[in-house]
Amino acid sequence: MKLSLYTDDLREASVDLVALGVFSDEPDRGLAFSQLNAALNGVLAQACKDEDFKGKAGQTVVVNVAAPGGARRVMVYGYGPRDQYTAESARRFAGTAAKVARKVGAATAALQLAVFDAPDDPESVLMLVQALAEGVELGYYRFDTYRRRETSENRLEEVHVAFAAEDVQGLKGAALRDAMRKGQRVATAVAFARDLINSPPNDLTPNELADRARAMAKKNELACKVLSARDLERQKMRLHLGVGQGSRNEPRLIHLTYTPDDKNRSDRVVCLVGKGITFDAGGLSLKTSEGMMDMKIDMGGAAAVLGAMEAVALTRPGCVVHGIVGAAENMPDGNAIRPGDVIEGKKGITVEVLNTDAEGRLVLADALAYAQELKPTDLIDLATLTGACMVALGRLTAAAFTDHEDMASDLQAAWVTSGESFWRMPLNPELQEQLKSDIADIKNIGERWGGAITAALFLKAFVEEGTRWAHLDIAGPVSAAKDQGHIQKGGTGFGVRTLLAYIERVSG
Ligand code: BES
Ligand code: MN
Ligand code: MN
Repeated sequence: MKLSLYTDDLREASVDLVALGVFSDEPDRGLAFSQLNAALNGVLAQACKDEDFKGKAGQTVVVNVAAPGGARRVMVYGYGPRDQYTAESARRFAGTAAKVARKVGAATAALQLAVFDAPDDPESVLMLVQALAEGVELGYYRFDTYRRRETSENRLEEVHVAFAAEDVQGLKGAALRDAMRKGQRVATAVAFARDLINSPPNDLTPNELADRARAMAKKNELACKVLSARDLERQKMRLHLGVGQGSRNEPRLIHLTYTPDDKNRSDRVVCLVGKGITFDAGGLSLKTSEGMMDMKIDMGGAAAVLGAMEAVALTRPGCVVHGIVGAAENMPDGNAIRPGDVIEGKKGITVEVLNTDAEGRLVLADALAYAQELKPTDLIDLATLTGACMVALGRLTAAAFTDHEDMASDLQAAWVTSGESFWRMPLNPELQEQLKSDIADIKNIGERWGGAITAALFLKAFVEEGTRWAHLDIAGPVSAAKDQGHIQKGGTGFGVRTLLAYIERVSG
């Protein structure tokens, strides 16, 4: 869709949908609302009253109007209290407006920007404009690849971001347009990740995941290397191979590299590692039918890494970034790994596999070993690793594990910027003994309690002491149960925006 700036009077906007947000603790609803309401002879205030609209976060009223300027509908959206307004509020507002636009078949829309209380901070205005662009694009996202009937037309052609002149004082039009364009680029990368997650597992095999990564890399001028099963053999990546050996769809390792222009190159080398299980049946430790119903999402870590690589390619931050994906399909078969097998991976650590459904950590162990040969200054893995993590934190929040305090604070700053929900969890060394094997160096499961932590501790055993390493368990937020704001039911692309924010932060 086309995004443009709109500096004229909102009352004059000749669009199919006007969207504006209001704060629950501002009873007069602000200037834009009162002006528009007056021009419409009070129908907005009346509709809000009829619908018991209080401006609570996410509350929405849509009114059909015949505005003198030509507008056909107005959406009034609640931001909640003014002091809780963030870029994420703006993103959700824009996402909701896009969904309303889709529902009513709007081709043109105008979104009113709300700035912070101190409008003299130009950086914050640009951040909000970027968030609006992300929100409207992502809120309009649909996964229609497999629909032959009832496909939804993309009718929304032009979206105006509307400003009050005093809110953007000191900002050039070019800077505002750059912020919109950046938001659209980020949304492109998140949509790429969503498409991968939403794709069915009969089509999105490890090889297909590699093909899609290669095509994206080619389009965006990233270096791309794909390792076949034979290459993995040469690399002694037998844990990764072991997970894939019960499937006819051979495993792959995908390695993308972004290199910045020399002039703005910092000495940071960020390495992102993603779990890419294209389907997790559990292997011989077979899941229940219910348990495997949604297991195409088990490559959500890989999707986040590949999405982040596209975001990096499109926005060009100043450090080297590697994206590594361990792709495999975990199936039961006469050739599958057995509970009880002992496998030695790339790192030379022997693993007793007591549960073949704890496969993500096996693939990641080899992928982390591969990544460390690239001498990263920052190593981050993302995985839909444990159901236990969802029990602990629910469906909206991801777990962040790291022993490095400076990395923890950089990560936290990144997730505050992105608005994605994370919570730090401990790597209790006391739990390590749960992973002691009777016959090998380590076993791949601990006891039931603290399952997300023992999974993280398992990974830690494969990371060189002192490495700035973090493990992000995204099992919950990788997919959404319902449409909301900029989120669409299904794959969310969670992680892409936080990774980009992290990379931008550490590359200076
Ligand atoms: N992919 C699953 C984790 C998962 C479960 C992600 C539900 C999203 C939703 C992972 O491979 C797995 O099966 N983990 C087991 C580990 C157990 C066998 C130690 C789990 O969480 O039950
Ligand atoms: Mn599993
Ligand atoms: Mn899994």
